[in-house]
Amino acid sequence: MPVSTVTARAPGRVNLIGEHLDYNGGRCLPIALDLGTITTVSRSTEAKLSSTEARPGWTAYVTGVLASLGVEEPLHVEVTSDLPIGAGLASSAALECSVAMAVDELLGLGRSREELMRACIRAENEYVGVPTGGMDQAASLFSDPGHALLLDFADDSRTPVAFDPGAAGLALLVVDTGVSHALTDGAYAARRADCEAAARALGIPHLARASPEQIRGLPGGRLGRRARHVASEQQRVDAFVTAVGGADWDVAGALMTGSHTSLRDDYEVSYPELDLVVETALERGALGARMTGGGFGGSAIALVPGGVLDDVEGSIRSAFTANGHDAPTLYRVEASRGAAVLRAT
Ligand code: GLA
Repeated sequence: MPVSTVTARAPGRVNLIGEHLDYNGGRCLPIALDLGTITTVSRSTEAKLSSTEARPGWTAYVTGVLASLGVEEPLHVEVTSDLPIGAGLASSAALECSVAMAVDELLGLGRSREELMRACIRAENEYVGVPTGGMDQAASLFSDPGHALLLDFADDSRTPVAFDPGAAGLALLVVDTGVSHALTDGAYAARRADCEAAARALGIPHLARASPEQIRGLPGGRLGRRARHVASEQQRVDAFVTAVGGADWDVAGALMTGSHTSLRDDYEVSYPELDLVVETALERGALGARMTGGGFGGSAIALVPGGVLDDVEGSIRSAFTANGHDAPTLYRVEASRGAAVLRAT
């Protein structure tokens, strides 16, 4: 008997390090969150989309995925999510991937996860019109619990990297600043265009391929700063993987903080509330902290020893109040599982 209803769940992500490297042909290291989006699709006589989400334009993500998969029959699609929207935690990818997983199962399309990932990226790039790089969809579809996922966009490889700070008495804290970031507002596309211009100037396909000499040889100014972020961030990713592998958490933390500084000063995608989280967390004893995701608002992460966790959280809340910002939302997170079909009936 053909199935008539399928429910699938896809998680959001935080990127531990390697920001704005995916579309530059570099490496990044996200984990999947235990927060995600659940989509139920059923066969229907007329198309109907419903959602508990408050995101304007959310239907374009759904119809974009359906179009990318070449699905034409009418479906009833119902979406619910415990992942905050616009928080830089890849709610768009979670929505796309949950729809793709559910539809593939319902209609027996038999697409591989790789193909579903490509369809989701196409939905976002071509139907929604945001030139994102693919990290979020890969993290949502391919993550394993207890592991970060090393994504290398030079050769499209994906390597799980054991990531369990809890075993060392540390917590990974996510702070949603409440400043809604919208990648559709053009600043993200402008950064990508800067990188493409810098790569063109160097005569290479992707900026992450540039040698240190080439980066140094770029004229100063904006493009030079963008390129410097890409090159230095790439080195930090590799050093971070080594540090985590050796349980050298002090070094891992320092690399996260270095990433933040580079994103703030060279890539210019941070935001006052993100800087406030990072400064406060470090002041109160975090080993490292950084903005995560596209930037211009959204979330920051901090690697925090268990003994100072309550104080770090309380201090971040107080700092927001003292600076006249709305209260942030804090999550203690672990590396969680990737997308899955939950039910097919
Ligand atoms: C957003 C995009 C990703 C990636 C990050 C920055 O999350 O969707 O593709 O470029 O920004 O690292």
